[in-house]
Amino acid sequence: MAAKTTTFFVLLFFSLNLQCSSSDNWIRAGYWVSSSAFPVSEINSALFTHLMCAFARINSSTYHILIDSTYEQSFSNFTNTVKRKNPSVITLLSIWAGKQDSAIFSSMINQSSSRQSFIESSIETARLYGFDGLDLVGVMAGNSTSMTNLGTLLEDWRAALVASESSNSGKSELLMVMTGYNFSETRLLSYPVESMKKSLDWVVVLAFDYYLPTRYNFTGPHSALYGSSSSSSWLNVNNSIQEWLNRGFLATKLVLCMPYHGYAWILVNANDNSVGAPASGQIINIDGSMGYKYIKSFIEDYGYGAASVYNGTFGVNFFTIGQTWINFDSVEAIRAKVSFAKEKGLLGYSVFQLGNDDNWELSTVAKGQGGKDQKNERPLLIIILIIVAMAILLIGTIVCYLKRKFNLKSRMKNRTSATENFSCNGHNLLVLSFTTIREATDNFASGNKIGEGGYGPVYKGRLPNGQEVAVKRLSKFSHQGWEEFKNEVELTERLQHVNLVPVLGICNEKEEKMLIYEFMPNKSLDFYIFASLILYTDPHRRYLLDWRKRAHIIEGITQGLLYLQEYSNFTIIHRDLKASNVLLDSDMNPKISDFGMAKAFTKDEREANTRRIVGTYGYVPPEYVRNGIYSKKYDVYSYGVLLLQIISGKRTACYYGPNDSFNLLEFAYKLWKDGEGMEFFDSSLDDSSSTWKLMRCMQVALLCVQENPADRPTMLEVYTLLKNEIATITTPREPAFSFTRDEDEEINKCRSEMRKCSINYESITQLVPR
Ligand SMILES: *[C@@H]1O[C@H](CO)[C@@H](O)[C@H](O)[C@H]1NC(C)=O
Ligand SMILES: *[C@@H]1O[C@H](CO)[C@@H](O)[C@H](O)[C@H]1NC(C)=O
Ligand SMILES: *[C@@H]1O[C@H](CO)[C@@H](O)[C@H](O)[C@H]1NC(C)=O
Ligand SMILES: *[C@@H]1O[C@H](CO)[C@@H](O)[C@H](O)[C@H]1NC(C)=O
Ligand SMILES: *[C@@H]1O[C@H](CO)[C@@H](O)[C@H](O)[C@H]1NC(C)=O
Ligand SMILES: *[C@@H]1O[C@H](CO)[C@@H](O)[C@H](O)[C@H]1NC(C)=O
Ligand SMILES: *[C@@H]1O[C@H](CO)[C@@H](O)[C@H](O)[C@H]1NC(C)=O
Ligand SMILES: *[C@@H]1O[C@H](CO)[C@@H](O)[C@H](O)[C@H]1NC(C)=O
Repeated sequence: MAAKTTTFFVLLFFSLNLQCSSSDNWIRAGYWVSSSAFPVSEINSALFTHLMCAFARINSSTYHILIDSTYEQSFSNFTNTVKRKNPSVITLLSIWAGKQDSAIFSSMINQSSSRQSFIESSIETARLYGFDGLDLVGVMAGNSTSMTNLGTLLEDWRAALVASESSNSGKSELLMVMTGYNFSETRLLSYPVESMKKSLDWVVVLAFDYYLPTRYNFTGPHSALYGSSSSSSWLNVNNSIQEWLNRGFLATKLVLCMPYHGYAWILVNANDNSVGAPASGQIINIDGSMGYKYIKSFIEDYGYGAASVYNGTFGVNFFTIGQTWINFDSVEAIRAKVSFAKEKGLLGYSVFQLGNDDNWELSTVAKGQGGKDQKNERPLLIIILIIVAMAILLIGTIVCYLKRKFNLKSRMKNRTSATENFSCNGHNLLVLSFTTIREATDNFASGNKIGEGGYGPVYKGRLPNGQEVAVKRLSKFSHQGWEEFKNEVELTERLQHVNLVPVLGICNEKEEKMLIYEFMPNKSLDFYIFASLILYTDPHRRYLLDWRKRAHIIEGITQGLLYLQEYSNFTIIHRDLKASNVLLDSDMNPKISDFGMAKAFTKDEREANTRRIVGTYGYVPPEYVRNGIYSKKYDVYSYGVLLLQIISGKRTACYYGPNDSFNLLEFAYKLWKDGEGMEFFDSSLDDSSSTWKLMRCMQVALLCVQENPADRPTMLEVYTLLKNEIATITTPREPAFSFTRDEDEEINKCRSEMRKCSINYESITQLVPR
């Protein structure tokens, strides 16, 4: 009850707050682009004051507004849909007049009659679909003839808006906005400044994309799209906005546009990665562009251990992985830009485009930054309401807190005693102080973060004695994490084997719980085997693991599992065996890591049952997903999946074969049954001498992933089958495949990879003519 009341007042508080901040003039706008395939219904409109629906086009013969029939429903429902989450959000119909359509636009603006048709149609369409304004996008600064025409259009347009509203009493006048690019450096090309000042509510300045590499040796299929840039005169956000001010614009008529995308390029020389460095081509799209969320997943997948560098001069992050060079606006850059816009006294910001944000991360940051120092006189009533709401909130919180404290007391007690138990347990792990670890990791610097473990981030560090370590830090807010942490400490201190990651020590001070491992310089197996799709992150990475090395790794994993199942004092079921949990030391020896979800059995126990389904997509056997049953055969199944991945370089989340109709296991089984196993192998393993061994591996793997756990071989049998090449081997039955949590994440990874490879993937930066 108390919680409900609190929630209610929190909501009330925020909605009031929201209305307050929209009552001042700070603009938080964003573009939704119809071709992005991002559904309008998923826009979090509470984060914005204005939303642009993009793009309508212009009919080349009638100069009427043209909306592609595919998107007509979305356009007509746009305003209603976004107002559901934020009734005060203002919507604008965005009209495209750039690139391929610039000729239509130029011929429209030089004739009074065509201007009139365009203007009338634009107002009609905006009214028909319930938009509150119009936005013109894509018009570059030009010569004086074309700009005089543009000026005339804008003035006529504004006059028409005024006239339309006076005859349309009850409706407020439509807003009129335009995007502006840079002015040419030579002052030859301008915009019709006076008409724009008079007619427009504001100008959205696209002050970005000034820092692409020089493409002096790029001869790709789309090389004609790119001009060459001279590194002597790089623009940045500051000097670009400054130019608008210098030309006579008021800061209060300018809105700063920020990109939710960046660019990925192939550098000519991996060591020359400065702004303007030569590049030989783009990674994915024809212009190298990549949305923020894809950049994030790209860096997670391939940027292990590397950190992006923020360059304040350009207000952008740069990131180099092998020969790949990526620039993008990080959270840090967005914060800096919003502060900059505030400092300069601009009217607000606009983002392009919404669909590229990652779970609203950037938009949330931008909103937080913008709302800081807003000074305005809020009506007394609202202030009183807020005070009342806060008082009730406070009381609610106290009640809640007391209640929770009461409830938690006993739980906390157990927890504390458990903590004491294991720290006084006489274990042989080194106990390290928080100070030591903090110094070793440079105060957990983001540049030292090398990954995200099951229950918290993992950092690289160097102990005072010079030893390199990996530090897994339990995230403070994770309750489940605490269980996994404890579990991992208890298990790993008893386990010692060359194919398990050596745990060196723990740190257990008050709130801080950390596990310290030996650092594995060669990262994890996934880093190599899935590198085939993205050749340019490191063109040689995939070839680093030839068949000899892969065989060695398979042997090591087999030994590690044999130890866990047969040769240690307990039977250990790992329950999260996967490519990213197989780490590689300096000699490429595999080490199984991450025992947070592992379970120990006594030798006579066969299987157990759990309600909590854990594990990673594609690696979890069907009996576990169905009934929560786990046994040694759980890990055998995961091992089989891993084996298939090692020989094929393929992910479990993707679909294969004709029409992408098979999952990884089905695909392997089908090829094997049809005697086409060769098709399945990673092409970098193209070596006829190993074919027979690869086929043997494939058959063993297929035995491991059979539906019935009893049909799967034990690890001892697996070992024998791989070692003794003349041992008789049975014929695998059809494999079983199941879906679990992480599904979305993995499938997104697969999709993003497909996109990364697809040259046809539509450019996401169509606002930027190039
Ligand atoms: C433009 O308008 C003309 C005349 O109404 C129409 O015939 C034509 O199909 C329109 N063009 C497009 C691309 O819709
Ligand atoms: C638009 O709204 C109509 C009526 O509210 C609804 O039937 C239709 O499915 C909606 N279309 C889309 C694309 O959301
Ligand atoms: C307007 O521009 C179009 C195409 O650029 C041209 O064909 C036409 O002659 C121009 N009309 C006038 C009145 O300048
Ligand atoms: C000015 O620009 C327009 C449209 O871009 C072009 O048609 C025209 O030839 C240009 N005029 C001059 C004098 O450069
Ligand atoms: C500035 O705009 C002009 C066209 O108006 C374009 O040719 C030039 O490349 C732009 N410069 C930069 C740095 O974007
Ligand atoms: C340009 O590419 C060609 C062929 O790929 C190469 O031989 C040449 O050295 C390159 N030039 C520069 C300046 O990188
Ligand atoms: C921005 O540019 C102006 C004028 O070019 C300059 O005076 C100012 O120092 C610059 N600010 C920053 C933060 O670079
Ligand atoms: C930003 O990049 C430019 C060009 O590469 C370089 O000269 C400058 O030193 C960098 N600034 C920072 C703060 O890294």
